[in-house]
Amino acid sequence: MLRLGSLLALAYLFTQGTTAPAPAWQFVEKGNSGIVALEAIVVSPSLVVFFDRATNDPLKTADGRTAWGALWNLETNQATPLKLVSDSFCASGSLLSNGTMVSVGGNIPAPADLNQTAASDGRMGLRMFGPCTDVNGVGCTIFEDLDNIHLVETRWYPSSLRIFDGSLMVVGGVHAGVPFYNVHPVNSFEFFPSKDNGVPRQSPFLQRTAPVNLFPRVFALPDGKIFMLANNQSIIYDIETNKETILPDLPNGQRVSNPFDGTLTMLPLSPPLYVPEVLACGGSTKSDTTPVADLSSQDPATSQCARLTLTPAGIARGWEVEHMPQGRMMPEMILMPNGQILIINGGASGYAALNSIGTTTGGSNADHPVLTPILYSPDAAVGRRMSQDGLPTSNIPRLYHSTVTLLPQGNILLAGSNPNPNVTIIPAGQPGFSSEFRVETLDPPFMSMARPVLSNVPSKILFNQRFTIDVNMPAGVSPVGLKVALMDLGFSSHAFHSSTRLVFMDAVLSPNGRSLTILSPPNNRVYPPGPGYIFVTVGDRTSVGAHVMVGSGANPPVANQGIFI
Ligand SMILES: *[C@@H]1O[C@H](CO)[C@@H](O)[C@H](O)[C@H]1NC(C)=O
Ligand SMILES: *[C@@H]1O[C@H](CO)[C@@H](O)[C@H](O)[C@H]1NC(C)=O
Ligand SMILES: *[C@@H]1O[C@H](CO)[C@@H](O)[C@H](O)[C@H]1NC(C)=O
Ligand SMILES: *[C@@H]1O[C@H](CO)[C@@H](O)[C@H](O)[C@H]1NC(C)=O
Repeated sequence: MLRLGSLLALAYLFTQGTTAPAPAWQFVEKGNSGIVALEAIVVSPSLVVFFDRATNDPLKTADGRTAWGALWNLETNQATPLKLVSDSFCASGSLLSNGTMVSVGGNIPAPADLNQTAASDGRMGLRMFGPCTDVNGVGCTIFEDLDNIHLVETRWYPSSLRIFDGSLMVVGGVHAGVPFYNVHPVNSFEFFPSKDNGVPRQSPFLQRTAPVNLFPRVFALPDGKIFMLANNQSIIYDIETNKETILPDLPNGQRVSNPFDGTLTMLPLSPPLYVPEVLACGGSTKSDTTPVADLSSQDPATSQCARLTLTPAGIARGWEVEHMPQGRMMPEMILMPNGQILIINGGASGYAALNSIGTTTGGSNADHPVLTPILYSPDAAVGRRMSQDGLPTSNIPRLYHSTVTLLPQGNILLAGSNPNPNVTIIPAGQPGFSSEFRVETLDPPFMSMARPVLSNVPSKILFNQRFTIDVNMPAGVSPVGLKVALMDLGFSSHAFHSSTRLVFMDAVLSPNGRSLTILSPPNNRVYPPGPGYIFVTVGDRTSVGAHVMVGSGANPPVANQGIFI
């Protein structure tokens, strides 16, 4: 595939003369986010919602107050303010089965910021947006009704996850502002819409993993159970029986949840068995009892990645260890539609959070930004999975409070970074990292090549359903090995992508090569019901993602759908 790509590139060079560069990965600056994009989620094919803390951001709402939410338009590269009620600082979120985006949790606004924002306490916040069908987001607003629609517990730094019935599971967090370790933990789960008559479920797992258990890394497994990783411990949690199964600890002292942020992803799921595998990368090997005064922004982050297959045999084998070319604190992992994983951002040393350990760099608990991403190929042999060949180097550090997400267009959006208590520009030559408003994309080579073009994609697909779409393949690219991915692009916050998912679908190309008959995932556990994007990859080229509703599109909780295997 690569060889064909370079031959085509060569042919291109010959016909265009020597001035046209061969298609390559590149960072492209795209404009100004208006607020620090501390959280990001794609909410439609053309729109991304950004959230910040309610502070002194430059973007203003119509009433002249400071905005802390913004709608980023992927076609115009402009941010428009969203009017929020409560402080979304360090919240999480996801899309529901009916396509509505929900942002959960948040913080008490800082007194110094109240005059400009008038924000409410956001710790029980539930902020809803869309579904938005206007390409520019006209008429789409955030809806909050704190008196009547809110969480049961106060939660700052929680995780959230769309589960098999299309509702949101909200996991852990901290009750009140703590500077570093989680010393006021919320050791429970709750749901939106609520279950159990609104009584949160206590979690022994969260108790065991404090004080390094903020933003627990959680994934919905293809049987509906939940994999959870916090600190160096992991479990499978069964929502339907309220039971936890303890799995092996991460090896060699690796710890991955906030404030020792590594990251976790679930590798792409493939038919017919959808065997789940998880991959945890980066973070720190420091003891979780180290006094904060003894921690330094210069402490090396770990380069370890640990991978576990979640079958009885895989669990018995234990975590398989491999290493990134460098240590990374706060790395992010992006599932790519071709099945590779992009590991990007973070720093080579230090910790998450700001102004809260013995030695900082300016306000930052982390240092030595890592500016070159890694591509991870899950199917290659251990030791051959990671490569930085051909990947470009950015000049924009993306440290604490930065975001990154795959876009429906097939490239990757990067925004934010702010290891400071509010919007702060660090003068040149001073230690630290300025609040970052520059938005970038990381464009794979196919962004400047002819790509498969999808059309007549149904707006809704049911489970275990065959459906046909039209496809216009780029000339000269063999369809052998063609891949069709159904993806949730996730909610990016604090080095974790809530609900992100890639499920490959079996597909048959028609004899004339112009249509694809695709079999959707078997049921609502393999892909929790809700919005998704269908991407087709041939050779080294991926199509633009087609937006679909997967399942009935009804409000959660929805009944089981499809067939069970
Ligand atoms: C910004 O943060 C600094 C340091 O915490 C604080 O003194 C100042 O009041 C804050 N300013 C605003 C506008 O929030
Ligand atoms: C609030 O901010 C406005 C504009 O910055 C300023 O004129 C006003 O005096 C402030 N009020 C208080 C109570 O700080
Ligand atoms: C995990 O961390 C705990 C302390 O939080 C420690 O007691 C335990 O030995 C660690 N597990 C491994 C495998 O290192
Ligand atoms: C989606 O479901 C949630 C939870 O029931 C509800 O609050 C929201 O209004 C629904 N969205 C739409 C567009 O109906």
